[in-house]
Amino acid sequence: MTDLENLKAEALSLLAKADSPEKLDDLRVAFLGKKGKITEIMKTLGSMDAEQRKTFGAAVNKAKDEIQALIAEKKEKLETEALNLRLKTEAIDVTLPPRPDTEQGRIHPVTQVTEELLAIFAQMGFELAEGPDIEDDWHCFEALNIPKSHPARQMQDTFYMKDGGGDILRTQTSAVQIRTLDNKRPPFRIVCPGRTYRCDYDMTHTPMFHQIEGLVIDKTTTMGHLKGCLIDVMKTFFEVDDVPVRFRPSYFPFTEPSAEMDIGCSRENGEFKIAKDKGWMEILGCGMVHPNVLKNCGVDPAEYQGFAFGFGIDRMAMLKYGIPDLRTFFEGDIRWMRHYGFIPLDEPSLTTGLSLNGGLKL
Ligand code: DAH
Repeated sequence: MTDLENLKAEALSLLAKADSPEKLDDLRVAFLGKKGKITEIMKTLGSMDAEQRKTFGAAVNKAKDEIQALIAEKKEKLETEALNLRLKTEAIDVTLPPRPDTEQGRIHPVTQVTEELLAIFAQMGFELAEGPDIEDDWHCFEALNIPKSHPARQMQDTFYMKDGGGDILRTQTSAVQIRTLDNKRPPFRIVCPGRTYRCDYDMTHTPMFHQIEGLVIDKTTTMGHLKGCLIDVMKTFFEVDDVPVRFRPSYFPFTEPSAEMDIGCSRENGEFKIAKDKGWMEILGCGMVHPNVLKNCGVDPAEYQGFAFGFGIDRMAMLKYGIPDLRTFFEGDIRWMRHYGFIPLDEPSLTTGLSLNGGLKL
């Protein structure tokens, strides 16, 4: 066998053994590279006579082309094999049912009830407004007609920020009334859901809880509208046409006259249920906006009037879904969530028109 045939045979046997693109590349360099074996042989052509050069040159070129073609063919074969292997091992069968041990998350009753209430208010033409959890004295008290010396300040045990700058955790979403009046020209109807904070802890009180504030300002709104609006909200929310309600005269510095609204309910085994003649649960405070509040925000009380209300979202959840102890809402117990939480719907949420974090930031 000539040197050339030997070389070809060597290349072919190495090619058969090359089982990766890297090995193939090494092979290519060893035979066809700048210092490769075939290249070296080509260099000997110079010392041959014309006739020899012609036949040997053609033979070397043929061998070179053959080796090149075989390497390319093998390369394609290896790449196809690698791709097929990946397709086989990385395939995802999207038709498989979910694994039975996969836990599905639940919607917290507070989120659920907030969305239910916002959906109801949206249908009544209310807009969403949101204010900050950390408030200042002016928005939370002073502008709401609660001066420094006012005993109403003691009604709400306030958390003060450590830095001594006078900022507080808002004790009531009523602060958003002021922010709205400062930023929006009447007429308007807004609701503001949010967290509120007071130093309090028992079965029906937690240091952090949730309220929805409402404010309606125009030229002709009366106490009659206030009562009609809130009764409608309760009927729709509790899905009971004759939900027992009563309004009691009350006192809030930012409304005049003021009232509290109670819902008729029973309490069996700790669970609250809507019921007639069994007892009452206080659900909200409300009233006609005090002229001083309007004045503090540069709105003329001779021209504009309206009503406001603020109620506890958590209490509404306890009452609608029979949850006995408010403290359990915020303990983060997964078993509690599995029991009282809501399975997310595939359809759009109940909120039609108003959505949390989608409103006017004040
Ligand atoms: N902010 C009051 C509270 O937290 C509730 C309240 C009462 C809100 C009367 C109002 C209102 O808007 O008009 O106890």
